[in-house]
Amino acid sequence: MFKTAITEMFGIKYPIICGAMMWLCKPNLCAAVSNAGGMGNLTAGNYETEEEFRAAIRETRKLTDKPFMVNITMLPSVRITAAHHKMYIRVCAEEKVDGIEFSGTPADKAAGMESIEMLKKAGVKLFHKVGSVRHAVHAEKVGYDGIYAAGIEEGGHPLNDDVTTMVLTPRIAESVKIPVVTVGGVADGRGLAAALALGASGIMMASRFVATKECEVHENIKQELVRRQEFETVLYGKSINLQGRGLKTKVLEEILAIEERGGGLQELIPLLSGQRVREAWKKGDVDYAPLMVGQSIGFIHDIPTCRELLDRMAAEAREHLARSSQACG
Ligand SMILES: Cc1cc2nc3c(=O)[nH]c(=O)nc-3n(C[C@H](O)[C@H](O)[C@H](O)COP(=O)(O)O)c2cc1C
Repeated sequence: MFKTAITEMFGIKYPIICGAMMWLCKPNLCAAVSNAGGMGNLTAGNYETEEEFRAAIRETRKLTDKPFMVNITMLPSVRITAAHHKMYIRVCAEEKVDGIEFSGTPADKAAGMESIEMLKKAGVKLFHKVGSVRHAVHAEKVGYDGIYAAGIEEGGHPLNDDVTTMVLTPRIAESVKIPVVTVGGVADGRGLAAALALGASGIMMASRFVATKECEVHENIKQELVRRQEFETVLYGKSINLQGRGLKTKVLEEILAIEERGGGLQELIPLLSGQRVREAWKKGDVDYAPLMVGQSIGFIHDIPTCRELLDRMAAEAREHLARSSQACG
C-alpha cells in the first residue's frame, strides 16, 4: 500500500493519476484506470451538452465504484466556450464527483470564486494543472486542494515558461503546502520513484495510457507509440500563444513550417481542428492531424492492460526507492 497525501485523500491504492485526454478519456478507460488502483479521468470537453456529460459521469460510475477525476480544460477553444465551463462545474457539483483537474485559466478567474465555493460545498477536491510556481501559489491561495506540476516534457499544452519536471516539482513542493503531483516525463515506476523523491505525492501521466489495451484508439497508433523514441516529439503553436507538444509527424512539420513563415491562425485552424484529431485517433492515421504526446513515449515498449501497467509501476517504484535508500547508506 502506498501512503501519500494523494492515496489518503481519495482512498486509492496507487498514487498514479491519468491526465486529461481529449477524445480518449471516456468512461471505459477512466474506469479501467480507477479499477486498477489509480485514478481515471473523464475529460469534460468530450461532451458538448449537459445531458451527454451527466450521462458519461453516470456511465463511469456503473463501470467502477472507485474514485475518478473529471478534467475541465479552460483554454481558448472554438468548440468549448465559457458557458460550457460553467455547465461542467455545476454538473460536477450536482453529481458530487470526487475531484476536478482544471487546466488553463484558474476556476476563480474563469467562473468566479462562487464556482470554487460551490464545488467545495459539494465535497469535490480541486486540482489545477500548472507549469509555474506563480500559478501554483495562486491556486493554493484561492482554495484548491492540490497541484499538478506539469513540466515542459508533457504532452498536451505545456506552459511556455518551458521549465522541466525535474525542476518544477521541487520548486512547487517547496512553495505550497497542499499536495503536489508530478506531470510530464513519467511512464514507469522509475518516474514514480523519482517524483516521490522530489517531494511529490504522486504522478500523473497520459501518453502512457494511450498504449494500453483499454484505450479506444486505432491499433496503429498504439504500435506507433511503441516504435517512437523520446526525441520524436515537437513543440508547436508558439506563434499563436498556445504551445502544444505532439508526435513528430508530417502534419506537425507542415504546421511548424506555416508558423515559421508567419502564417496566422486562419491558415493553422484547419490543420489543428479537434474533429480532424478525433478522426486521426480513430482511423490510425498519424499524419492526418497533430497527435499530442509527451517525451515519456520513450518509455513505452508494450501495450499492457491498465492493471498490468499500474501493478508493474508500483513494483518498479518500490524496487528503485529501496535501491536509492540503500545507496544512501
Ligand atoms: C492525447 C492527449 C490529449 C490531451 N488532452 C488534454 C486536454 O484536453 N486537457 C488537458 O488539460 N490536458 C490534456 N493533455 C495533457 C495531459 O493531461 C497530461 O498533462 C500530459 O499528457 C502528461 O504528460 P505525458 O503525456 O508525458 O504523460 C493531453 C495529453 C495527451 C497525450
